[in-house]
Amino acid sequence: MKEKLRIHGGARLEGEVTASGGKNAALAILPAALLADSPSTIENIPDINDVRVILEMLRWLGAGVEFSNNTLVVDPRTIDKYNPPYELAGRMRASYYLAPVLLGIFGRAEVPLPGGCDIGARPIDQTLKGMRTLGAEVNTTGGVLSVSAPSLEGADIFLDMPSVGATVNSMLTAVSAGGSTNIHNAAKEPHIVDLANFLSSMGASVKGAGTDVIRIRGGRPLHGTNYTVVPDQIETGTLMIAAAATGGDVIINGAIPTHMEALSAKLLEMGVNVTTEDDCIHVRSNGVFRAVNVKTQAYPGFPTDLQQPLTALLTVARGTSMVNETIFEARFRFLDELRKMGADVNVVEAKTAIINGVEKLYGARVSATDLRAGAAMVIAALMADGTTDIDGIGYILRGYENFDGKLRSLGAMIERIEVTDDEF
Ligand code: UD1
Repeated sequence: MKEKLRIHGGARLEGEVTASGGKNAALAILPAALLADSPSTIENIPDINDVRVILEMLRWLGAGVEFSNNTLVVDPRTIDKYNPPYELAGRMRASYYLAPVLLGIFGRAEVPLPGGCDIGARPIDQTLKGMRTLGAEVNTTGGVLSVSAPSLEGADIFLDMPSVGATVNSMLTAVSAGGSTNIHNAAKEPHIVDLANFLSSMGASVKGAGTDVIRIRGGRPLHGTNYTVVPDQIETGTLMIAAAATGGDVIINGAIPTHMEALSAKLLEMGVNVTTEDDCIHVRSNGVFRAVNVKTQAYPGFPTDLQQPLTALLTVARGTSMVNETIFEARFRFLDELRKMGADVNVVEAKTAIINGVEKLYGARVSATDLRAGAAMVIAALMADGTTDIDGIGYILRGYENFDGKLRSLGAMIERIEVTDDEF
């Protein structure tokens, strides 16, 4: 059954909502759980399609998997395969996190290369370099990441850029290697720290996560653990922007304010009131916004995953905003969809968009062209005059747990509608 979202714009969001567990943290932690010699219980896992795909892969590999109420019990002792099929692995980019894990367990792995959102070139050269540095033979012919190593030895890995994927894969390789590994120029995102905490709870020695250098003393076996996944930084940010966009008054519970500083600072600059307590964020807005300039950067800079949602908000800010996307160049494709709603947006160079604020957006038929673009279209629709139909909601469901339900609970007029194939 195909569905679309129908949103009647103009409702002010009010009330309290709770952040779900981190998608990108869970996608790294679930494969890591296979490295244990006993079962783990992992809580606060978001119930999203990307997680369901990873769970299917763990089952296919032979692991025991029970998932309900956002809690996973995973038993890795029965794993007996090292080569997940394309039908599963090709469905999401993070599948390649299984490669270093299966390499550690079996001395070899064959994982079809990443799928995921089409947001521009997504090279994996730094992942390959990290694994090679620790002694793996690596081959990518035929669209399959094939790795093998009779044994892995710790070493210094120097990443050319702080890539999240390469940092995760280097960490997951290093915990199975003998001796010490230092990952230099490592990514510092909250999900990297969460993966490090998870590995430490399994008995691994991982220091320095959240700084430029992560130091790992390798050696298995690791043991099963009880762990709670960190809240989702991007979902939290999306809800903050949605609250601001509707001139709303929303408290997001279960969030980590320090993870949100780059966005909070931007919203404050735009005239939105953002206050925080230990684990909640309060966003209040009068619906009038100042234009600002934004440049996406690796954490703790402004996250590329929130660029599209914030750009949607900037379309109605007073004045001209400049958005510089330095991480994924194709993340401006969704501007075509915003234009259909009346936005005045232009890409002046491949990486820079100029947004001239307009008085109002208007409801239209639009598409979610990728996960975060989908969230951006929802935000645009919440602000717009009239009704917006958003196609491609599969993208949104990949990464946001109960997104429409959460927004509805805050007062949004949003519904899921069944569509026939020829409707879009
Ligand atoms: C992860 C996130 C994604 C987020 C992105 C940036 C997951 C599952 N996905 O994606 O939501 O948008 O971080 O925060 O966690 N690069 C190379 N060579 C490499 C690796 C990366 O040139 O080997 C470049 C990329 O083209 C990009 C930049 O480095 O410009 C950052 O990419 P990276 O941090 O690796 O993103 P992902 O791990 O794919």
